[in-house]
Amino acid sequence: MEEVSLPGDAKLKMKLKLIIFGVTSNLAQIKLIPALYDLEKDGLLPDDFSVIGIGRKEIGPKEFRLYINSILNTKSPHHNHEVDPRIADDLLGRISYLSGDVNDPVLFEKLKQSVKSSKKIFYLAVYPDLYKIIFNNLIKHGLSRQKTGWSRVVVEKPLGNNLKSAQELNSLLLKYFDEDQVYRLDHYLGKETLQNILDFRFGNCIFEPLMNNEFVDHIQITSAEEYGIGKRGNYYDNVGALKDVGQNHILQMLALITMKEPKNFSNKDITSERVKLIKSLIPEPESVVFGQYENYLKEENVIENSTTETFFALETYIDNKRFEGVPIFIRAGKMLARTVTEVAIVFKSSAKRILNTQDCSSGQNALIYRIQPNEGIILKVLVRSHGYERKLTPSFMQFCHRNLPGEPMDPYERLLYDVLKGDQTFFNDAPEIEAQWMFADSFSQKKKPFIYPKGSWGPKQADQLIEKSGRHWLEPSTLFCQF
Ligand SMILES: NC(=O)c1ccc[n+]([C@@H]2O[C@H](COP(=O)([O-])OP(=O)(O)OC[C@H]3O[C@@H](n4cnc5c(N)ncnc54)[C@H](OP(=O)(O)O)[C@@H]3O)[C@@H](O)[C@H]2O)c1
Repeated sequence: MEEVSLPGDAKLKMKLKLIIFGVTSNLAQIKLIPALYDLEKDGLLPDDFSVIGIGRKEIGPKEFRLYINSILNTKSPHHNHEVDPRIADDLLGRISYLSGDVNDPVLFEKLKQSVKSSKKIFYLAVYPDLYKIIFNNLIKHGLSRQKTGWSRVVVEKPLGNNLKSAQELNSLLLKYFDEDQVYRLDHYLGKETLQNILDFRFGNCIFEPLMNNEFVDHIQITSAEEYGIGKRGNYYDNVGALKDVGQNHILQMLALITMKEPKNFSNKDITSERVKLIKSLIPEPESVVFGQYENYLKEENVIENSTTETFFALETYIDNKRFEGVPIFIRAGKMLARTVTEVAIVFKSSAKRILNTQDCSSGQNALIYRIQPNEGIILKVLVRSHGYERKLTPSFMQFCHRNLPGEPMDPYERLLYDVLKGDQTFFNDAPEIEAQWMFADSFSQKKKPFIYPKGSWGPKQADQLIEKSGRHWLEPSTLFCQF
């Protein structure tokens, strides 16, 4: 079949410097350095591209080389392919280390001497309490000036802890940079499975006409992890499930699934439709169910009698004509039956079919976006069973990402490349972050969490939430794209 080609990505030609504040961080070790290797391997780095990594320790060139090499040769779930020493060498030729404390102006003097390029990217792999001092020092030393070239800044989660703190962070960023210089990175938007939602919806002709309240009965999202908080008690106990994945990842999925078709496949139009959708969500705060897995209180660094939720389920609606009256049910949590993230669009059962004697609750058509694992898009349909008698049975038609030729691109590699190119489509702008927090904050009137057993699908109250409307949670299938 002829391949439909979309506007391509040419190799970039420019002199460019990437400055990583916190090159010794966990973030740099597990995500950034491996992503730079992948960009090198895929020939996507500009010829005249180099990296300066900053940290406080004194590290000599030889020791720094060993450090980068050991990162590249450590296999992790994020980066588990073989490392070609020649590619690693090419990358090492581009990276150097600069020691210094960001509170010390001398570091920025030294940085200025090393950065002659007019195009610069500042990657902040440090905690947000250091942003202000870094920005101040960049300005003072003329490093973020854009007179002849450009400069961009990349920041990561946490992008605030509620609406107020997100607004403060945005004000800080926008005091020093313009919105088109700021890249708020959440790796979730870099996932191919998420980006493919838009390609699938707007590249095909048959599904979009069905995406409205005439055909859609309801939408449900499950984001489940079978593991607990591990050693992250310090972080997680202050955050909880709603802020950890609800405010960001789940709203991003929901926006991509239900946003209006943008005028063009451009940053401005896509972002604007995502933001519009998130702003139009009607929260139903009384619907929310919080849960906590049994023995959570015994986890390391969890405070005594903590009421932090490790699970939530909620109902929401979209305030537009297209989805008026279509409920959206969301559940997410830890220590659940299976690690799986999927969105199911469940269609209405028409009473007019001639074969309507079947039990529609088991046969309802559904379009399922399986985000992870066994990534794919699945259509649940009814088909005839074997045998003489006419009997319909539910079955699945599936597209599996792993059937595509080649390897999927790591989200960090893709997003880092977008930063080099200057494409903000899959980054959040200030209004989007604030709209997400506004939605999440409306559920923050804390209810006590219900304790649920490990390996379940959460507290029974989450089942009651959906069942009171005559619907039920679809159990994510283990069969999808399994071979
Ligand atoms: N880790 C992840 O997977 C992950 C994922 C998403 C977002 N994030 C975010 O990324 C940021 C970093 O997280 P992390 O877990 O990677 O932290 P981390 O491992 O503790 O690293 C912190 C980094 O900051 C540097 N640093 C601290 N104080 C400094 C100073 N005064 N001057 C210069 N450098 C300084 C440290 O360098 P030295 O100690 O060597 O000086 C180190 O490289 C946080 O905002 C976090 O929320 C992390």
